[in-house]
Amino acid sequence: MKEIVVASTNAGKIREIKAMLEDIGIEIKSIQEEVGHEVDIVENGTTFEENAIIKAETIMHMINKPVLADDSGLEVDAMDKAPGIYSARFMGYDTSYDIKNQAIIDAVEGKDRTARFVCAMALAIPDAETIVIKETFEGEINDKIEGTNGFGYDPIFYFPPLGKTSAVMTMEEKNQHSHRAKALKRLYTILKELN
Ligand code: IMP
Repeated sequence: MKEIVVASTNAGKIREIKAMLEDIGIEIKSIQEEVGHEVDIVENGTTFEENAIIKAETIMHMINKPVLADDSGLEVDAMDKAPGIYSARFMGYDTSYDIKNQAIIDAVEGKDRTARFVCAMALAIPDAETIVIKETFEGEINDKIEGTNGFGYDPIFYFPPLGKTSAVMTMEEKNQHSHRAKALKRLYTILKELN
């Protein structure tokens, strides 16, 4: 495989994927670079894996090249695994994460605090079976918003082994333990064998 198109317009994600996969000699392109515009896909799957597969296969069929897509989110056990696949949309796209995060802290008050970030990655390859990987980052909901690194739900995601939230962790620390970094490491191993 010489080239992979990433089905995301998130510059941070594309940078992470490039940094992780460039030494195997695979060129990583964004969907914007490939087709010149964003592609709107209805993510109507019921799991992280289904949504990643829908995104990757839809775009792969459009451009006939290998396409990598990911879907991620936060599962809170005391909230029946919500916000889950609705993490970005939880309480509305325009609601600030300070408000979303405080709502989750309030929802788990006096309950089980276990939670996890989940990342599913799908690599759709023309005329081959789609490769699907799922990894988790296991932790707890912190009792307050803490830290300014990262994004989204990082300020309430407490990681017991390091005793801090993922918004207090350095990027290097998060990249050793996170759902996305672990999924990318597995993808790296698979691609290294294929190439
Ligand atoms: P998507 O995979 O780009 O659809 O992102 C899903 C949503 O899950 C993000 O908008 C965040 O709210 C949340 N999320 C996923 N990964 C992380 C993370 O590493 N830290 C904080 N929030 C995350």
